[in-house]
Amino acid sequence: MSRADSQKPIVTLGIETSCDETALALIKTNGQGVDFTCQVLSSLVHSQAELHSAYGGVFPSLAKREHGKNLVPLLHKLMIEAGELLEFSDDVGEAHMKDVMVSFSKEIAPQNPELYQSFSEAKFLGKIPKIDRIAVTEGPGLEPALWVGINFARMLSALWKIPVEPVDHMEGHIVGSLFPSEITNGAVHRIFDAPMPAVALLISGGHTQLVNVETIGNYEIIGETVDDAVGEAFDKVARLLGLAYPGGPNLSRLAGEARTAGIEAPVKLPRPMIGSKDLSFSFSGLKTAVLYATRKAPRDAKGDIEVNWKKGLAREFEDAVKETLDSKLRDALDKVGASSIIIGGGVSANSVLREAFGGTALEYGIPIFLPSHHISGDNALMIALASALDGDEKNSNKLGHQIIRAQGTKRLSV
Ligand code: KG4
Ligand code: ZN
Repeated sequence: MSRADSQKPIVTLGIETSCDETALALIKTNGQGVDFTCQVLSSLVHSQAELHSAYGGVFPSLAKREHGKNLVPLLHKLMIEAGELLEFSDDVGEAHMKDVMVSFSKEIAPQNPELYQSFSEAKFLGKIPKIDRIAVTEGPGLEPALWVGINFARMLSALWKIPVEPVDHMEGHIVGSLFPSEITNGAVHRIFDAPMPAVALLISGGHTQLVNVETIGNYEIIGETVDDAVGEAFDKVARLLGLAYPGGPNLSRLAGEARTAGIEAPVKLPRPMIGSKDLSFSFSGLKTAVLYATRKAPRDAKGDIEVNWKKGLAREFEDAVKETLDSKLRDALDKVGASSIIIGGGVSANSVLREAFGGTALEYGIPIFLPSHHISGDNALMIALASALDGDEKNSNKLGHQIIRAQGTKRLSV
């Protein structure tokens, strides 16, 4: 952590639009190393999950339009929620606002008409808040969705004359897990000081990765999925069982009911790639095994898969995922000689997985950092925090609106 002017508190606005959550956060950070503190001024997540559930997954052009509609009103709400914790300086002035709108009229207006329109009508943007930097997710994620957040950052940057820093979404999930509590506006927190090197296991709808975290900011991907991500597998299997999107939490609930009622697995599913020498994951075969099993599943009078069979299958699927992830996590810990474990991404909300990883940490005698409930899914607090913790200004630029581009397939690196 080498932010030059580390004594001065820094207010960061985080923007996250990589998938189907529109999220914004304002944090005030101070100091460095063990003295680093983070105060949340406000953090808001607007989920589009219900809209996408009709499509059984995230529909990119819908996500793009929704982000465009949501961002400006969400920022207004964010600033109201921050209340007196957020200070203001001057007014923008009508002439400057007009200049900014004209300068983006050719590019952003046709690309993101909802964003451009709501931006041009938002009177509250005329008061310049004391924000030092904007941190925006540049990838990985859905490119059309990422671009909306980036374009919003560029417009705010030009209007308020604030630099923009691009942030890797997966780094966000890593540092988010070091935030020590649920989010409470106004509370000042120290961030967990995870002993390094750490192994981070990132499990989300789009990714399944093992990362060697040498320090915050220095990452090496040491293992990943060769096909489906684990969250994707949860969602696809949930769909095969007739559960609504996002299927992960619903499937996990069903598995929990099977455990409580003592319902056993109706079939044995594979534990993919356990015992392979590398740190690769593969979940598509597991999904196919479920597909074949459902074809032979007993049906009720209505023709639906019999409910106890579904519960038992959900339990078996969750166990197969747990054993696979845990086995690879152990291999990675051995390989790196890790001093701690960091678990991140939406799937880390799963309590059976959390318990298993907790047991592994205990066995290895090292600490584990799991995200709190509000932070396991996509949010902007983690994006602002990644920018603030990463410290050095190499990526930041006064003219962020000129060089930041969406990188749908971005990969973590040093
Ligand atoms: O990190 P995230 O919010 O978005 C991406 O960046 O992908 O992860 C979303 C994924 C979805 O696949 C969702 O089904 C899964 O996380 N998920 C869960 C649970 N809660 C969310 N999977 C299993 N068990 C859960 N409790
Ligand atoms: Zn995510």
